[in-house]
Amino acid sequence: MLNTVLIMLLVPTAGLGARYNSHMVKGWSNSDCVRPWQQAQMSKPTLRIPSRAIECHPDDHNCPAGRNPVCQYSLRSQKYVCCEDKKDADIPTCPKYYETLLLPCGNSVDSQCPRGYRCLGSLGDDSIKLCCKPNRTLEYREPEHTFRENRIVPRLLPIAPAYELIATFSDEQISMGQLFDASIIEKLADPPIMSAGVELQDEKLYTIILADATSKAVTWLVANIAAFDGQLEIHRRTKSAVSYQPPDETDKPVGMHTMILALFEQHDTWSQKDLARIAMDDFNFGEWLEEYAHVLPGQPLAATFYGYSTKKDDRKRI
Ligand SMILES: *[C@@H]1O[C@H](CO)[C@@H](O)[C@H](O)[C@H]1NC(C)=O
Repeated sequence: MLNTVLIMLLVPTAGLGARYNSHMVKGWSNSDCVRPWQQAQMSKPTLRIPSRAIECHPDDHNCPAGRNPVCQYSLRSQKYVCCEDKKDADIPTCPKYYETLLLPCGNSVDSQCPRGYRCLGSLGDDSIKLCCKPNRTLEYREPEHTFRENRIVPRLLPIAPAYELIATFSDEQISMGQLFDASIIEKLADPPIMSAGVELQDEKLYTIILADATSKAVTWLVANIAAFDGQLEIHRRTKSAVSYQPPDETDKPVGMHTMILALFEQHDTWSQKDLARIAMDDFNFGEWLEEYAHVLPGQPLAATFYGYSTKKDDRKRI
């Protein structure tokens, strides 16, 4: 049943095709692939023919191996092409307690979704509409769900942490996603006191990193931290590789900054040379973790995120 519906949607029959087309041009992408988180699978360039989208036949499943490859009709090329998920694609999911059918649907065209599904805005991005089926018994893992709901994972941090990092700034224990506006920014003047929500191992070393995902800057980095009695051995005299830089009302860009605070359990000891080389601006978690995969695992042991704003929070209460 589902298959039939999918195929029907991908075949450009006159009426449906035209409606789908106009909506797609507005809301989705102008690439060969209908799903905005996908890209065409490209052929290798040859002396004779440049690289181009690989063609396929919808009944043959003959796309090359890749990240969830699908054969679908490209309105741009007017033929069937192979599409796969982009690397680290931010694949949308339905809101909590809905099963996701990765089928885009449009404003006011609910008929595009199979029976039992509703066309709803995706988790964290209402403008991406998907077919969703209610299911109250679905279970969600935390803190992963909150990181995804707030679009921290996978856009800003590739993998969700195993545990929530409990951080306390000026005696206030923050909750994930908390916002500090300009009037209370001084609460963030000193680095937080942290606990991982899990017993740390005395024979391991740990890294704490605080990154401003908005300005792409590392604003605090402490590496090679020992654990003692299951707690981080971090105190005023602990030397940091990047000293804590408190947020300020004059920070650029003006407005909200998203801060990610993460604790990693190291595989190995950081060398002074590597620490000195860490890019302090144009920082990107994904690239950083890839480059230092010999020192850090891809998944933080614990993490949290919060925001600060250079302006007063004057959003209206709903
Ligand atoms: C709801 O989700 C659970 C867990 O994935 C599944 O076992 C169950 O069959 C689903 N219920 C319905 C009505 O689809």
